[in-house]
Amino acid sequence: MLRIIEDPDAMQQWALAEHRGGKSIGFVPTMGALHEGHLSLVRRCRVENDWCVVSIFVNPLQFGPNEDLDTYPRGLERDQVLLQKENADVVFLPTPQTMYPPGFSMRVEEKMLSKVLCGASRPGHFAGVTTVVLKLLNLVQPVRAYFGQKDAQQARIIQQMVRDLAVPVETVVLPIVREPDGLAMSSRNAYLTPEQRAEAPVLFQALEWARKAVDTGERSADTLCLGIRERISATSARIDYVSVVDFETLRDVPVVRGAVLIAVAVFFGTTRLIDNVIVQSD
Ligand code: PAJ
Repeated sequence: MLRIIEDPDAMQQWALAEHRGGKSIGFVPTMGALHEGHLSLVRRCRVENDWCVVSIFVNPLQFGPNEDLDTYPRGLERDQVLLQKENADVVFLPTPQTMYPPGFSMRVEEKMLSKVLCGASRPGHFAGVTTVVLKLLNLVQPVRAYFGQKDAQQARIIQQMVRDLAVPVETVVLPIVREPDGLAMSSRNAYLTPEQRAEAPVLFQALEWARKAVDTGERSADTLCLGIRERISATSARIDYVSVVDFETLRDVPVVRGAVLIAVAVFFGTTRLIDNVIVQSD
């Protein structure tokens, strides 16, 4: 049976009691509108821990003033059916009022990794993410927490937070789950018009082109960025960024050496989509 916990205090009481009983808690934080990407995290969490806790919370702190907080897809009943099917144990459903009661004045802010890529075009976004994730980790007390490579920068920043602040949790990052045509699954794909949806796999196609180019010897970041830009520019998408960065520092690199993240962000109309691939070379 899927247990529903709404109150943050009740969540923490449950978690502390299970800890004392020697049970391991695994945790998948989400904003709901669940799809196979989220469910891949739930499945792994399910098998690696005694309990699998999933949170659904559309976190106002991580949305900018002109972003889609009000229209972000919400489908709680459907989400609960999916979680029940996956045998999740607990769904944690806090509200903005219970997470951020009057007088809440704290922010957890990463100072380097969060300033580039998506952080450059979404100021304050990652501070909203780290603040909520640290609070959720404190409430759920997991031994392991699961994140998707889809949000590579987010995963990297959370790992940094865990390291820098000695948060007692192991972070597990799992691969991007895609639609059959290559489009990375995202709750925001629901905003796309049929025409935009038909064009959206270009992100994956452009990244695949880059991956193959690296495989066959291309090392120049400029050449890779240019090739990706050309492919995306053939559609109606407006490019936010195309970047080739060091996987650790998220800083631009001129050549592909070691583990490199190739990341893209575009707008189809007002819908912002991101995608990435990790390439490796000597
Ligand atoms: P959300 O966008 O709902 O994503 C929840 C988790 O699912 C994140 O770790 C994300 O990387 C992962 N995910 C999303 N799409 C995926 C895909 N196609 N393949 C694999 N994993 C995927 O990310 C957030 O929520 C929020 O920022 C959150 C961490 C919950 C904090 O509010």
